Amino acid sequence: MTQRLAALLEEIKRTHASSAALAAFCPFADDLIDIPLAPRNLPCAEYMYQNAAFRDAEHPLARAFYNAGPDAHWRETYRNTDIGTDFMDRFGCYCAVGEGGAWKSAKMASYVVTMPPKLHYPWHHHPAEEMYLVLAGEATFLRDGEAAEQLGVGDSSFHASNQPHAMTTGDAPVMAYVVWRNNLGIKPVLTPDHMLRDAQ
Ligand SMILES: [Fe+2]
Repeated sequence: MTQRLAALLEEIKRTHASSAALAAFCPFADDLIDIPLAPRNLPCAEYMYQNAAFRDAEHPLARAFYNAGPDAHWRETYRNTDIGTDFMDRFGCYCAVGEGGAWKSAKMASYVVTMPPKLHYPWHHHPAEEMYLVLAGEATFLRDGEAAEQLGVGDSSFHASNQPHAMTTGDAPVMAYVVWRNNLGIKPVLTPDHMLRDAQ
C-alpha cells in the first residue's frame, strides 16, 4: 500500500469515528483486506486536481482523497449508459473500500465523489443504503419524496434502499465521502422519470 493510501485509510477511520451521522450509519469495517491496486487515471480526475478547493480543503479526509488520487483506480460508474461523455468526464469517483478499491470488506463499501460547479448528477438508485458526507464545497441534494436540501461541509444525506436521489452543484464544486451498507454488489442505475414520486 502506498503512503498516500495508508494516510487515506487513517483519515477514513477517523471520519467514521468522529462524524456522529456516519458512526451511527456504519462503523468502520473490522474485516478489511488489502487489495493490490493498479492505478487508473481518467479525465474526471483532472477536474478534481483543478479544484484548489479540494487540495486546500479544511477537512483532512478531503485532502487525503485529493492526495491519494494518483494511486487510485478511477471509476466509470455510468459507462454504457446514456448519461453522456460530458458528465462522465466531469463526475469523478474512485472506490476506497469495495470493488476497485484498495481494501475490501463484506460489511461496507465507500467511495469519494467530486463534481465541479454547475453539474447535475441525474436521478439514480440502488438497493444499498447510502450515506453522503460532504467533505468540501456544497451541493443541492435531491431525494425522491423529500424536500431538496443545500448541504455543506460536515452535512450528511441518507438515501434509503432504492430511493432515487440526485445532486446539483451551483457556483461551488463538491466533494463527498459515500458509504454503502447492505446489498453491496449491485451497481446504481439511472432512475426513469416514471419511477419518481416527485418528478422535477
Ligand atoms: Fe447513491
